[in-house]
Amino acid sequence: MKISIFGLGYVGAVSLACLARDGHTVVGVDVDAAKLDLIASGRTPVVEEGMIDLVDAVVKSGRVRVTQDARTAVLETSVSLVCVGTPSAPNGSQDQSAMLRLAHQMGEALKAKPAGHVVVFRSTLVPGTTDDVLRPILEEVSGKREGVDFHVCFQPEFLREGSSIRDYDRPPFTIVGAASDTAVATLRELFGHLPCEFHVTTIRAAETVKYSCNNFHALKITFANETARLCEALGVDPFQVMDLVCKDRQLNISPAYLKPGFAFGGSCLPKDLRATMYFARTRDVELPLHAAILPSNRIHIDRAIEKVTATGKRRLGMIGLSFKAGTDDLRESPLVILAEHFIGKGMSLLVYDPDVHLSNLLGANRRFIEQHVPHIGQLIHRDMGPVVDESDVLIVGLADKATREALRKRVRPDQTVIDLVHLGDVEDWPCEVQGLCW
Ligand SMILES: NC(=O)c1ccc[n+]([C@@H]2O[C@H](COP(=O)([O-])OP(=O)(O)OC[C@H]3O[C@@H](n4cnc5c(N)ncnc54)[C@H](O)[C@@H]3O)[C@@H](O)[C@H]2O)c1
Repeated sequence: MKISIFGLGYVGAVSLACLARDGHTVVGVDVDAAKLDLIASGRTPVVEEGMIDLVDAVVKSGRVRVTQDARTAVLETSVSLVCVGTPSAPNGSQDQSAMLRLAHQMGEALKAKPAGHVVVFRSTLVPGTTDDVLRPILEEVSGKREGVDFHVCFQPEFLREGSSIRDYDRPPFTIVGAASDTAVATLRELFGHLPCEFHVTTIRAAETVKYSCNNFHALKITFANETARLCEALGVDPFQVMDLVCKDRQLNISPAYLKPGFAFGGSCLPKDLRATMYFARTRDVELPLHAAILPSNRIHIDRAIEKVTATGKRRLGMIGLSFKAGTDDLRESPLVILAEHFIGKGMSLLVYDPDVHLSNLLGANRRFIEQHVPHIGQLIHRDMGPVVDESDVLIVGLADKATREALRKRVRPDQTVIDLVHLGDVEDWPCEVQGLCW
């Protein structure tokens, strides 16, 4: 394939070398003449393991050409990978000036190109940029229509500096955000052979995945470093602790707890976080990441309160009360906090939870509910029927498959369901279903 690559920094230069190595003809474009001169003479513009030999080899192969002229690069190739820098502006926003300039240049080039073209944005872009900013510029400047005359897509890059050639060859996955089959087919041809899953999604979702991955990596590093600071105060070896933490592949290094849903609660996580923070304070250890967890969890609870309040309805039914399905543990259940709030606001509330039988509650569990919602006994029903029938809003906090199905069959068109658990496909529900953030 004939490919043009715009921006020959870490991402662009490595892509140029690897694509040329794989037999493609590549035109590299950059505004920096020094980088172009280096590549033209077979030298790498970036310090990366393997790049010295690879750039030398691919330039000698004759499959690499470099230029500052965006127009000829688009005209000579069928696909463009855009890898220009998108650094931080002083206020923290993304500085897209290089990308915007390039979009205008590419628009001009597309105007002059009779054949079709695929533009693949590979730079990290704030979600919405491709659809709302770049596509309109390309269409306006070229006078052509995306999806007809040319195609746009977004494919985030996951390589890491220091191991970029290895990462190019073994990415965690290939994500293609595209609205057209032509763009997907082109990227499948270019990257479909890589030993990883190939996922197609919307452009916005692909842009968001890149941010979520980087934010998650930053979160992991900071968690490990805060844990180390805590370990230092405790006189414990942080490497041993984190090595053991990572050995748990069921709950720690796994998809567990990484699905959007309602706030956490229960008898362990909130109390253990509080104890961690108390200990840290007593030893002057700062743990801002840990300190943000409970407030963030509370914001999730407040969001559910806002959703219910915004319906303007005052007869509420809660499906679920304990802190998670399959248990009657009410201690620090976020659903109990919701119940407490709505009762305090004088709303009518009925509750159904198949696992909670007040007469069976003992010890700390009983004390917790008596302290927070002392009259809950009068509100809990053993059957879901009356709770559904006598409510205008149903707050679904827990729902196994059977409960979900029974609920779907029983709700009326005038009711609103506030879905805290992601009920899944709710298109055939007879009433309005509002997700918490979905
Ligand atoms: N560096 C990484 O490890 C990495 C990994 C994944 C994604 N990314 C993302 O990829 C993008 C590129 O990152 P990078 O580290 O390679 O950037 P970089 O700053 O190293 O290189 C960007 C290049 O774009 C060139 N450029 C600027 N305007 C141009 C124009 N109009 N036409 C042609 N070239 C132009 C610059 O001269 C520079 O050589 C960024 O959005 C970054 O966030 C980077």
